Amino acid sequence: MSFIDIAKSRYTTKKYDPTRKIDADTIEELKEILRFSPSSINSQPWKFTFISNEEIKKELAKVSYHNESKVNDTSHVVVFSVVKEVKDFEEKNLPLLPERATLYYNRVLKPKSVSEIKTWLSCQVYVALGYFLSACACMGIDTTAMEGIQLDEYDRILQDDGYRTLFAVCIGFRDKDDENQPTLNPKFRLDAEKVIRTI
Ligand SMILES: Cc1cc2nc3c(=O)[nH]c(=O)nc-3n(C[C@H](O)[C@H](O)[C@H](O)COP(=O)(O)O)c2cc1C
Repeated sequence: MSFIDIAKSRYTTKKYDPTRKIDADTIEELKEILRFSPSSINSQPWKFTFISNEEIKKELAKVSYHNESKVNDTSHVVVFSVVKEVKDFEEKNLPLLPERATLYYNRVLKPKSVSEIKTWLSCQVYVALGYFLSACACMGIDTTAMEGIQLDEYDRILQDDGYRTLFAVCIGFRDKDDENQPTLNPKFRLDAEKVIRTI
C-alpha cells in the first residue's frame, strides 16, 4: 500500500481486541524504530518504556481517564518521557554530541529560559511520536496516542528517575467492531486550502 493510502486508512483505535498480542520480534523492531527517530541536533532527550505486564497496565489504566479500557485491552503501552531537568540534559546528553551540535545549543538554545528549553526538549519527543505512529501504520499495527492520562501518576507508577512522562501510545490490534474505523466513521480533516500554502 502507498503511504498516502496508509495515511488515509490509519486511525486512532478506540477499542482493542484483548486476545491479540504483538509478537516479540515486532516489539524489538519497534524499539529500534524509536531509537532511530530524528531530533534537532540529534539531541535524543527521550526514554521509551514498553509495557506488556498486565498488572502494571491495570495500574496505568486506572489513571488514564477515558483511555482506561484501551490501556487494559491493548497488547502494549509505550510511554514517551523526556529528560526532566535541563541541567541533566546539558551534563549527560550534550557531551555525547558532536561539537557543532554543542556550539548550536550554546549559541541558540542556552540563552533561552529554562521553560523554553524544556518546551524544545519535549518537541523532540513529539517528533518521535509522529515517526512511531507512521511506522506502526505501515506495519499493520493499530495505535492510540494518549495525552489524556494522569502524567504524575504514570511517573509514580513507572519510577524512572530523571525523566517525566509526556504521553503514551497504545499499540495492538483493533476490535473488529471498533466504531472509530474510517470505514464506519469517516475521517475529518480541514480542507487543503486552509492548511496548505503554496508560494
Ligand atoms: C498528541 C496526541 C494526543 C492524543 N490524545 C488522545 C487521547 O488521550 N485519547 C484518544 O482517544 N485519542 C487521542 N488522540 C487522537 C486524536 O484525537 C486523533 O489523532 C485525531 O482526532 C485524528 O483522528 P485519527 O488519528 O483517527 O486520524 C491524540 C492524538 C495526538 C496526536
